Amino acid sequence: MEKENFVTLWHGEILPKNNVSQDFLPLLNEYEKNKASTYTRLDLRQKYINTRGILRLILASYLDCNPQQIPIEKGEYGKPYIPEQLEKSVHFNVSHTGNKLVIVVSNCSEVGVDIEQCKNRKSLPGLVEKCFSDKEANYWNTLPEEQKVNMFFRFWVRKEAFVKTVGRGIGLGLNQCSIHPEKQDRFTNIPQCYGFSSNWRIIDVPLGSLNVCAVVTKNMKFNFTQAKWRRS
Ligand SMILES: CC(C)(COP(=O)(O)OP(=O)(O)OC[C@H]1O[C@@H](n2cnc3c(N)ncnc32)[C@H](O)[C@@H]1OP(=O)(O)O)[C@@H](O)C(=O)NCCC(=O)NCCS
Repeated sequence: MEKENFVTLWHGEILPKNNVSQDFLPLLNEYEKNKASTYTRLDLRQKYINTRGILRLILASYLDCNPQQIPIEKGEYGKPYIPEQLEKSVHFNVSHTGNKLVIVVSNCSEVGVDIEQCKNRKSLPGLVEKCFSDKEANYWNTLPEEQKVNMFFRFWVRKEAFVKTVGRGIGLGLNQCSIHPEKQDRFTNIPQCYGFSSNWRIIDVPLGSLNVCAVVTKNMKFNFTQAKWRRS
């Protein structure tokens, strides 16, 4: 039977609200345990441990293996990935803001995800000038004032998700990809080395009114789902 192509967005909190923290430390590998011990601020240390632990638990559920034994390596620009030495493999990417964590997993496409809190900042018009195409900037500048903050971040997360999908990070330049203002699940422009912009897909993920989140994929045909992880 043919395997179904999927892209799944896992989301949830990094530190539990009730302060009863599951002990994720045993799930980490030696490198991660050492890294955790370098954090002097306890809350940041716990956030790092939980993020890596949750990531390993989620990946293990797809790979049918021990969470601690999943080999996670880093690409040239820092993108974590699973090398193709396992019998099963998946693509994944991680983003966090405040106490929110999102993890996207796919069996059929490189993936990137970004989540941001929608907060007004004086720097937004300057960032639009620097990182948005002329078409995107014209669209944004003519929006009613009350829509500008939310729409800024909706464009921003799509751009960040793209540079994370290809693994280059913001060093690529967020102005290197632009989104169709009238058809916001498509790019109008991406660097030539990544093929036709029409082959890429943007998925806006609703995660409450305070955060915006987008996933970018290269493959167009898959079943997209959202899931919230449960603590045991
Ligand atoms: C990746 C990047 C866009 C993240 O931006 P951000 O909004 O601050 O952070 P997010 O929470 O969305 O994402 C962080 C996660 O992205 C992942 N990540 C890191 N580098 C990445 C890359 N190049 N591509 C895709 N994902 C990457 C990691 O899982 C990271 O999680 P961690 O900090 O828990 O390890 C930004 O840090 C970046 O551009 N990094 C690349 C830096 C670089 O070019 N380094 C070159 C030498 S290593």
